[in-house]
Amino acid sequence: MPKTNFLQLAETRRSVRAYKPDEVPEELLQTVLEAGRLAPSAVNKQPWRFLVVRSETGRRALGAAYAREWFWKAPVIIVVCILPQEAWVRSYDGKNYAMVDGALAMDHMQLAAAELGLGTCWIGAFDPAAAREILGLPDGVEIVGMTPVGFPDVETHPRGRSRRPLGETVMKERWG
Ligand SMILES: Cc1cc2nc3c(=O)[nH]c(=O)nc-3n(C[C@H](O)[C@H](O)[C@H](O)COP(=O)(O)O)c2cc1C
Repeated sequence: MPKTNFLQLAETRRSVRAYKPDEVPEELLQTVLEAGRLAPSAVNKQPWRFLVVRSETGRRALGAAYAREWFWKAPVIIVVCILPQEAWVRSYDGKNYAMVDGALAMDHMQLAAAELGLGTCWIGAFDPAAAREILGLPDGVEIVGMTPVGFPDVETHPRGRSRRPLGETVMKERWG
């Protein structure tokens, strides 16, 4: 299979759970956020907002919602929020696409960060009620996920974790 630059990036990116304390240059952070801004969304509704927590006080506070030192000790935490009321809703079954859209923004940012040599790790296992309160989120705003952003303090190997082979991933069409 030919390895495109994108495939190499997708293969090299991995969840980073150890960060150097070094600051993330503002230009790199803005590039990561820009990648999120450029993500596709259903009917181009862009029902997302990104919250950037840089201060140690803020990061420590957020650590109460996800109690891992490596999480809040990273120099930056990006919180991807969604506003379901702004999102497209499928008429047939009422499915709200805010979560899907927010996930795409997060994925774009994680890949952009990896390209810049920055580590990220999608955090979904946080306490949502605690995180809302700590961040002071208004009603109607939900958190899709958070990610630390910083320079990895570990070697980033191509694909540390295995993936199901393509043969088991692509389903056979019923007419084939
Ligand atoms: C929606 C989602 C939620 C996740 N939540 C957590 C989490 O709470 N804590 C954590 O350490 N990793 C979390 N991860 C990272 C996954 O464990 C990781 O992506 C997966 O094991 C594959 O490893 P890789 O990212 O290194 O390829 C999450 C990933 C996704 C996509």
